Amino acid sequence: MLQKNELIICLGSSCFARGNKQMVQIVRQFLEDHKLTHKVVFKGKHCFGNCENGPGIKINDRLYEHIDEDKILVILEKELLK
Ligand code: FES
Repeated sequence: MLQKNELIICLGSSCFARGNKQMVQIVRQFLEDHKLTHKVVFKGKHCFGNCENGPGIKINDRLYEHIDEDKILVILEKELLK
């Protein structure tokens, strides 16, 4: 069976307030635009435990920190369009 990519976004209050609220929409749009919604498990979790480096997102257990609207697109392309 095809292994799905797992994308976990931190929805703890610090990351949420510092950009992950918008990141949820950007990720959803990216998955739809590239027809990846059935290939990616996208979910939120509460605080990753390193808020000072947030906002954070994990893709297949790789942690990306200090993400913003530009970086997230580069990360998604690298991780999901390979
Ligand atoms: S709120 Fe995201 S790491 Fe703490």
